[in-house]
Amino acid sequence: MIERIANTKATEGGASSKAGSTKSRIKTPVKDVVDTASQLDDAELENTLRPKDFSNYIGQERLKKNLKLAITAARKRDEPLDHILLYGPPGLGKTTMANVIANEMGAQIRITSGPAIERAGDLASLLTNLGDGDILFIDEIHRLHRTVEEVLYSAMEDFKLDIMLGKGPSARSLRLDVPKFTLIGATTRTGALAAPLRDRFGIIHRLEFYTHDEIRQIIERAADILKVRIDATAAMTLAERSRLTPRIANRLLKRVRDYADVNGDGIIDTVISRQSLELLEVDSLGLDPADRMLLEAIIDSYGGGPVGVETLAALTAEERSTIEDFIEPYLMQIGLLERTPRGRKVTHKAYSHLKRQPKSGGNQTGLVV
Ligand code: ADE
Repeated sequence: MIERIANTKATEGGASSKAGSTKSRIKTPVKDVVDTASQLDDAELENTLRPKDFSNYIGQERLKKNLKLAITAARKRDEPLDHILLYGPPGLGKTTMANVIANEMGAQIRITSGPAIERAGDLASLLTNLGDGDILFIDEIHRLHRTVEEVLYSAMEDFKLDIMLGKGPSARSLRLDVPKFTLIGATTRTGALAAPLRDRFGIIHRLEFYTHDEIRQIIERAADILKVRIDATAAMTLAERSRLTPRIANRLLKRVRDYADVNGDGIIDTVISRQSLELLEVDSLGLDPADRMLLEAIIDSYGGGPVGVETLAALTAEERSTIEDFIEPYLMQIGLLERTPRGRKVTHKAYSHLKRQPKSGGNQTGLVV
């Protein structure tokens, strides 16, 4: 398996903190974190770079507009916000947006993840420790255990928890009131969410890939916070190779900063950025070795496709979920790969980017078969 440099499988912002272990207060003073930035590790740095409110959040304009409206209305009525489901590829800012929402509501946020809530009792303890108007953020909500999910329904709908105590003939059910909380669920796959759960969210939004210009602004903002000097051309070069994803942009910036500190005077210019990206094996479209291996596997072993995802997983030694969640969305977004009912197919653009010639008889998109 090829190690991915710029897109690891970490959940957004380490949001998988064990249920009940983190009461995340969102009002961290930015200055404090900035001053000690050089001592922080990558996860902490990612936190440092997160915008805290809408005014600092770059991109996702439609989502921000919709959320601002819902927040203003809820505040006007002095009610908690409706439950919110955010979905889309990893690294686009679902956790960041949940924190921004909490901040804009003046609410506390508690962060956990689907697989971390093992039993209905864990959920009960999380919910009963919230206050009215607080936010519970569940990352990877599609991975909630079935039994937990069922208990969540009445909590979302009526702010009641129905818990079974004991087993067999002596079992009793207990109905608990829970505070009027807002659930923010995040998932990379809405399709994997049970319909009754999805239907209980009042606000459902997809996070979109960012434009190159938005990513450039995110890089320049991060450089400012980290006190890194980067010229405009280098910022655009990094932006073009960041897979339209802020998390990757910030990671690349940090790696290139390392390169600039070791091989230059710390300033990121065009030469330094190109050399370090070459070392990282990130190409002009932001593809890394794992992306290229996937495309080449389809070309070399299946004449450009179609080929099923399970076959591809075996061929590339990647997990199916890594292919589906991390690799494919960007390749499809930039038109190198297509998903068809019969499997994955590379496009004409992929052949030309990889400087490969389609074999006659191949059936990749854009060519006559
Ligand atoms: N850092 C990560 N995502 C960001 C965003 N959308 N806006 C500003 N800074 C960010």
